[in-house]
Amino acid sequence: MREQLTRETTANVYLVLFSLSVLLNIFLLCQHFSFHSPSRPSSTISELSWTRRAAAEAEAVAAISCSGHGRAYVDGVLDNWRPTCECNTCYIGSDCSVLLSNCSADVDSGDPLFLEPYWMQHAAKGAVVLSGWHRMSYSTTDHFKSLELENHIRLLHAAVGNAITDGKYLVFGTGSTQLINALVYALSPENTSSPASVVATVPYYPMYKEQTELFNGRDYEWEGATAKWRNSNKTNFVEFVTSPNNPDCLLCDSVLGGSSVIYDHAYYWPHFTAIPEPADGDAMIFTVSKLSGHAGSRFGWAFIKDENVYNKVSNYLQYNSMGASRDTQSRIFNYVKVILAEIGSNADIFEFGFNKLRKRWQRLQALVNSSSRFSLQQLSPQYCTYFKKIRDPSPAYAWLKCENEEDADCAEVLMKGGIISRGGTKFGSSTQYTRLSLLKTDDNFEMLLQKFKPLVASSDENTSEISSF
Ligand SMILES: Cc1ncc(COP(=O)(O)O)c(C=O)c1O
Repeated sequence: MREQLTRETTANVYLVLFSLSVLLNIFLLCQHFSFHSPSRPSSTISELSWTRRAAAEAEAVAAISCSGHGRAYVDGVLDNWRPTCECNTCYIGSDCSVLLSNCSADVDSGDPLFLEPYWMQHAAKGAVVLSGWHRMSYSTTDHFKSLELENHIRLLHAAVGNAITDGKYLVFGTGSTQLINALVYALSPENTSSPASVVATVPYYPMYKEQTELFNGRDYEWEGATAKWRNSNKTNFVEFVTSPNNPDCLLCDSVLGGSSVIYDHAYYWPHFTAIPEPADGDAMIFTVSKLSGHAGSRFGWAFIKDENVYNKVSNYLQYNSMGASRDTQSRIFNYVKVILAEIGSNADIFEFGFNKLRKRWQRLQALVNSSSRFSLQQLSPQYCTYFKKIRDPSPAYAWLKCENEEDADCAEVLMKGGIISRGGTKFGSSTQYTRLSLLKTDDNFEMLLQKFKPLVASSDENTSEISSF
């Protein structure tokens, strides 16, 4: 009897052990396959080896305190073998803690540093580690282009709903700046007695004129504002359409309606504008500078419908630079993946950028509207297919007009008041207008408001609300 009991107990113990072993194996198999899914590269390394020094250096430099008014970089100027702080405008000192008195607010350039805090808040997501032998070759997965970056850019446009990319070729450029001339060249007829006229609607982004004039050749020349050509019989135009426009941030379409239109959609992302529908132009330019804020990486892309135009652009890029930097492509690949993965989460870069720019616009607008000396472009709330609601304006720039006759040169008026802006004539417009960039650091923006207050207060009709901004 006792013997039988012992045998049964032993059998039960074996059964339990066997069941546990089966369960353990199932668990280990699940672990194995979940870590080896295609979306998650396998990692059998439990301890880092050769990346440790670089990672430690990156973190040590990022930890250097620049008082929130600057930052240190691994390749910054060294002092005692340690990179020094690079301070925001108006701040000085080894830790950028000293605010200069009488410093002008610099809101001239479109430097997209408003997104810097996003990447600081999500430091782990933004970090990229490259080996010393990373893509040393001239060629990458698709000649000069990373195929996976191309795939992810197309996925991003589909997810944001800002462009139709199916059936269009994609080219990468060293910033969209490189693609501006590449497309002008490709859309201009060759060996013709009448060169293409390159035009844009006032106020236009100055680079179109500057670059076209720099390269003015046999096949194309800068012919100024579309308004001049609206009723002419002339054909052969290459028209730039910037939508939303730089500097007034309005959504725009072609004025001349010709066949060669270059749509510059640098700002057609939800942080700057409502997205009413996906763009579907035959030649569309985008840039990472205004998407993720990485202007220093110099990366832009263009979708091109026509195969001949695509071939000509590809030739141009081949002879001009042999394609966009492979290191840059790797870095941008990471940012595009992060942006895509975080859509709709609380780390959504579009939500972050939109909130920041909307607040800036509202504060500036309230200040400007408190007097009749200045006015701003009219922007209205609009339905956005990305946020799926009517959303307030959040423009990249304020297109400021000086309303008084005695303030004939608006940029000059601001300059005297300690604000560096970009005058209207640069955009083919009049001196009555000037552009204020809302894309720079918080320090730049706060200084802008500080300097703007007395300009508004010096007008007759100011209200008592001003002190609250
Ligand atoms: C309308 C427009 N297009 C193109 C660019 C150039 O961008 P990237 O940095 O890609 O050369 C800018 C930059 O401010 C811009 O405003």
